[in-house]
Amino acid sequence: MPLFDPLTLPNGSVLPNRIAKAAMEENMADADHAPSERLLRLYRTWSEGGVGLLISGNVMIDRRAMTGPGGVVLEDETHLPRFAQWARIGRANGAQFWLQINHPGRQMQAGMGQPTWAPSAVALELGNLSKRFATAQQMPPAVIQEVIERFTRTACLAEQAGFTGVQIHAAHGYLLSQFLSPLSNRRNDQWGGSLENRARLLLEVVKAVRAEVSADFAVAVKLNSADFQRGGFSVEDAQHVVRLLDGLGVDLIELSGGSYEAPAMQGQARDGRTLAREAYFLEFAREIRDVTRLPLMVTGGIRRAPVAEEVLASGIETVGIGTALTINPNLPRDWQQGISSAPQLPPISWNNKVLASLANMARVKYQLRKLSQGGQPCPTVSPVWALLTQQVIDLLSTRRYRRWMASRARP
Ligand SMILES: Cc1cc2nc3c(=O)[nH]c(=O)nc-3n(C[C@H](O)[C@H](O)[C@H](O)COP(=O)(O)O)c2cc1C
Repeated sequence: MPLFDPLTLPNGSVLPNRIAKAAMEENMADADHAPSERLLRLYRTWSEGGVGLLISGNVMIDRRAMTGPGGVVLEDETHLPRFAQWARIGRANGAQFWLQINHPGRQMQAGMGQPTWAPSAVALELGNLSKRFATAQQMPPAVIQEVIERFTRTACLAEQAGFTGVQIHAAHGYLLSQFLSPLSNRRNDQWGGSLENRARLLLEVVKAVRAEVSADFAVAVKLNSADFQRGGFSVEDAQHVVRLLDGLGVDLIELSGGSYEAPAMQGQARDGRTLAREAYFLEFAREIRDVTRLPLMVTGGIRRAPVAEEVLASGIETVGIGTALTINPNLPRDWQQGISSAPQLPPISWNNKVLASLANMARVKYQLRKLSQGGQPCPTVSPVWALLTQQVIDLLSTRRYRRWMASRARP
């Protein structure tokens, strides 16, 4: 089965098969925002399940800029032994293990109590939930420069800890994706305006990281195939950005889509387009395939082996799987043994799409918590219950985070 063929990346390293565990924010940092015991156990489970590539949930490059409470932060050497342990566990069965590194920009909840920075002072539009997010301040050039340095430092620390690569998160409406989109980037300096200017931050980050890490350390990018918002980042824009990335030493581009405002990564567009029910972004990935020879990965809605095979047959090198691997972490082994496992969460048909997307995330995080405690997944968990539990957990972890920040601020 081609799914179990190895893949040699441009840096010469090899992925043992074509199945990757996509990044899923675990919110399982310990009290120091380093990897916790539970996080390590979760990755042991996935590593034993037979994936060829593990990509961590997003790890923050700056403790002041968090995608959520309970997030792992890697900005200095303080907890490097812990990260090294995490890397060893993930790699123990032959998979590569990459840290996904990220900055949320304006997609940071106001409750975190930190100043919010973004390309421009454009508020998130999330209906009733908009008030949970502060309108960001426009980043001055010095802050942009610091972002480039922080991505680079975190990548170097990841290599030092023993990870085999990093994935730079430029999708899902986080900072780098905010720069790419004309809806959130209204700048008229060298960081905004034309697509070349909007892509500049991503390109500078990639160049700076590639220049500092070893040649055989993987540098990957997660990119939206489109924003799925009218007037946003289009598939033609994505094609152009991929052409710009070509030649910069990128090892793999993962294609996803959407943002908090238009959660297409969970199968919901906001611009009237209908996404496929499985492998949502495959059509878009084919359009990207036309313009590059870089290895591509497509993620979103993949849970059955025949669909994963179809992705590969379309000329895409790897499949990214999130949700299905939280319900069955042994999915790759099952498929290899010819077991037609197809794990799925029952669909949520709420009218409020943003709330439905939050409930879906909460259900997946519920599975992550079960696995991290050595328990069995529970795909039938009620979305309302998962959402409520998640709210409580987020509230408590936000308080803990604020105390941690306050303690670090004291002399
Ligand atoms: C709970 C949860 C957390 C996620 N966290 C991240 C993340 O940290 N970084 C990222 O790039 N994508 C994240 N995603 C998106 C997934 O990587 C993936 O693109 C999406 O879930 C669609 O794939 P799937 O249908 O296989 O789950 C997350 C998704 C879920 C459900």
